[in-house]
Amino acid sequence: MTMSSNEPAHAPLRELLPAPGATDVDLASVYAYPVGLDRPWVRANMVASADGGAVGPSGRSRDLSSVPDRRIMGVLRGLSDVVLVGAATARAEGYGPVRSRRAWAHLREGRPDTPRVAVVSRSLDLPEALLTEAPQDARTLVFTTSHAPPERIARVREHAEVVVVEGRSVGPEHVVNGLAERGLYRVLTEGGPHLLAEYVAAGLLDELCLTVSPHLLGSGAPRIVAGGSGAPGAPEHASVQNTPVRLARLLEADGHLFARYLR
Ligand SMILES: NC(=O)c1ccc[n+]([C@@H]2O[C@H](COP(=O)([O-])OP(=O)(O)OC[C@H]3O[C@@H](n4cnc5c(N)ncnc54)[C@H](OP(=O)(O)O)[C@@H]3O)[C@@H](O)[C@H]2O)c1
Repeated sequence: MTMSSNEPAHAPLRELLPAPGATDVDLASVYAYPVGLDRPWVRANMVASADGGAVGPSGRSRDLSSVPDRRIMGVLRGLSDVVLVGAATARAEGYGPVRSRRAWAHLREGRPDTPRVAVVSRSLDLPEALLTEAPQDARTLVFTTSHAPPERIARVREHAEVVVVEGRSVGPEHVVNGLAERGLYRVLTEGGPHLLAEYVAAGLLDELCLTVSPHLLGSGAPRIVAGGSGAPGAPEHASVQNTPVRLARLLEADGHLFARYLR
């Protein structure tokens, strides 16, 4: 997902749950992280079409977004210590460091002006701005594997903090431990679908903020979780999980629904 700084006036967000009707919704309190965290709390923010698609014809999620969606995204970023993404999302959506915003300056008291961006990548093919434009107190954090090309690791290290995990994969537990070691407890992952699937499979997703956007994308669009189809030859349902989540909040604006699910 991407954000633009000059947004037009927005439709008011209306609360449907738990108290129907409220229109003066204080997003920072609706989406506050639990207090007194003693471990990273992993929240995902994703957008899907009414028929479950996560990527529009442009190859990005912005086809599904809206002014209120971007407003919520901004607040979620402002509340977080770190924005975690898969490298394919960083490339597709042209990620740079999170820009500070006056609107959520009060949410950053005692913390750097912006959350850090943490990116997971085997290839280390990352947008240049993500590496070179991050402020010193919010340097980009890159999780990669010992199989990444050494010259790329050295190049990325010139600008970003790099965590090299032994082996071929950066497991969600490596990332969560790495964030915990740095005191980055309020985690906001913005996907993409492949990265998110790993956190769901590992039981490490605490919360899903899901925007349901009034569009139909058809069968060609991936879901908000993708990949990980189980063992070769296994029936398709073999890797299907069933983790119950609780609908804690539901907001609406302009026909877009904003659900907050807690595990
Ligand atoms: N609807 C939404 O809310 C939403 C949100 C985000 C993104 N999107 C869309 O989703 C698409 C991109 O998502 P995606 O699912 O294809 O990719 P992704 O999850 O964003 O990133 C996958 C990449 O992350 C790295 N990675 C993931 N797991 C890894 C592991 N265990 N170890 C090491 N590296 C790992 C690899 O990077 P390398 O390739 O660098 O090795 C991998 O190719 C874009 O079209 C984007 O617009 C939609």
